[in-house]
Parts: sequence; C-alpha cells; structure tokens
Amino acid sequence: MTDVTDAPAPAWTPSAAQHLERVLWVKHWTDRLFSFAITRPDTFRFRSGEFVMIGLPPAPGETKPILRAYSIASPSFAEELEFLSIKVQDGPLTSRLQHIQEGDAVLLGKKPTGTLVLDAVRPGKRLFMFGTGTGLAPFLSVARDPDAYSNFEQVIVGHGVREVNELAYRDLFTKDIFEDPLVGEEAQKQLVYYPTVTREPFERQGRFTDLIASGKLFADLGLDQAKFDREHDRIMLCGSMEFIKDMAALIESHGLVEGSNAEPGDYVLERAFVG
Ligand code: A2P
Repeated sequence: MTDVTDAPAPAWTPSAAQHLERVLWVKHWTDRLFSFAITRPDTFRFRSGEFVMIGLPPAPGETKPILRAYSIASPSFAEELEFLSIKVQDGPLTSRLQHIQEGDAVLLGKKPTGTLVLDAVRPGKRLFMFGTGTGLAPFLSVARDPDAYSNFEQVIVGHGVREVNELAYRDLFTKDIFEDPLVGEEAQKQLVYYPTVTREPFERQGRFTDLIASGKLFADLGLDQAKFDREHDRIMLCGSMEFIKDMAALIESHGLVEGSNAEPGDYVLERAFVG
C-alpha cells in the first residue's frame, strides 16, 4: 500500500470562477503605487468602469489564493486588462503583488461588476469623475471609452492625491490621450483633466470637497454655476470611505440623487480597493 503522505501534493489549479492569466507589463509610479496589465481571455467581457477579483496563486505552504476586487483601468474593448494598485508592505495581497513581473501568473475572476458605468447615470451634459489615489482606476477606463464622449458634451477627470508624484497617468491625460486613435479627437474637445494635490505645492491644491464647496471647481471650469446642476451634471466617485461619504453628502446637498444599474441616477460611487 502506498503511504499517501509520500505522494506529491497535487499542483494547485484555479477554481471554476477564475482564469489564470499572465502579466504583460508592470510600471512602478512610486514606492506606494504601481500599474500592471495582464492577458485578457477571449470570453472575458466587461463594461468600462467595472471591477473584478484579482489575485495570486497560493504561495508555497499556502492552500488558498488571496483575491481582492480591483477596478479595471483599461476600456471595455482593450486587448489587455490594466490595473492600478497601491503597495501595502503588510497587505495580504499587495505585499506580494507589488513584486510581479512580466510572465508571472495572476488570477482573474470571471464576473466583473460595478456601478461606475455609463449605464448607471442618466443622460446629461457633463460627466464629472472624481477619484482619489487609486480611485482614479475606473475613470481611466471610462475616459478611454468613446461612449463617454458620445453620451456627454464634457468629460471631467478629477484626480486628488497627497503628493505630486502620486498623480499617476498625468502624461496620459495631458498628452497621450489626445493622440489616441479612438478617442483622441473627442478628448481634445471634450476632456478636462483636473488634478489636485493636498500635501505639497502644486498648480492646484485642496480637497475636492473644498474646491466644490467654495465654488472654485466651477470657476476653474468656466462654468457659470456655484453648485452641481441636477439637470446637466452627472458624477462618478471613487476613493476612500471618508472621501465617498463626504462627497456624496455634498452632492446630495446640491439636490442630486444616487443611481445604480437597476435605476440610473445623477451620481454613482464606489470605494477604491486597498490591501
Ligand atoms: P488630505 O491630504 O487632505 O487628507 P488618501 O491617500 O488618504 O486616500 O487621500 C487621497 C486624497 O484624498 C488626498 O488628497 C486627501 O486629502 C483626499 N481626501 C481624503 N479624505 C478626504 C475626504 N473625506 N474628503 C475629501 N478629500 C479627501
């Protein structure tokens, strides 16, 4: 009789709910922030702005993979799936994920979902997208989708960070997107990039909540209004719990109503994922 304890452990295989994909590239922005892209299975469909579970196969000695929800930063039609991630030194996933390299295996959930999608906001004139930190990710997807420009006259991408070097994708929004074969021309006319930094000098400083409450945001955009306008303005929010809570309260005080996939509204929100 064979002693089962001597048998080699079976190789770990992903569950039926996951694809096993490969890393295509990694870009480190700072010691706290990086982007990466993975291969996209033919069968994988999502709407720009959605999130999906991402993870790594179990480390030696572990039996279960660790997965976390990540917003997909690439648009719905892109060949590769791109993500923006924080690095947390003792984070269950990102302590390992931050070391991935081209060719490494990454797990991809099969069920993307989310509310930061064009379907969840009512038709309007202006689409404001406010992200703090890695909360920019879903808006990288929506802002590279031609539907954003056909649905709205103006598309505003606000990115709020503590330090200037955390303004990831600044080159995309100040240069590269205008040369994009799909949305370049529209972006030149309709896209406004609105970065702000809170903890060091920059051309624009302050939290979005303050920039909105003081009316500075509207003045900066040349809009003749002191508040959001329920008739024309639609808003998407992504960031920390506190950010979302404070922004939602402010936006609601302007009379806007939260939407969902089932019932599109004036604004939608989602927490940026951490850990
Ligand atoms: P601040 O530097 O004043 O805290 P974090 O890294 O903590 O998620 O913050 C990212 C950005 O979001 C920072 O610029 C931060 O400003 C801002 N922020 C954090 N919490 C809030 C909030 N409740 N309302 C508005 N902005 C916020």
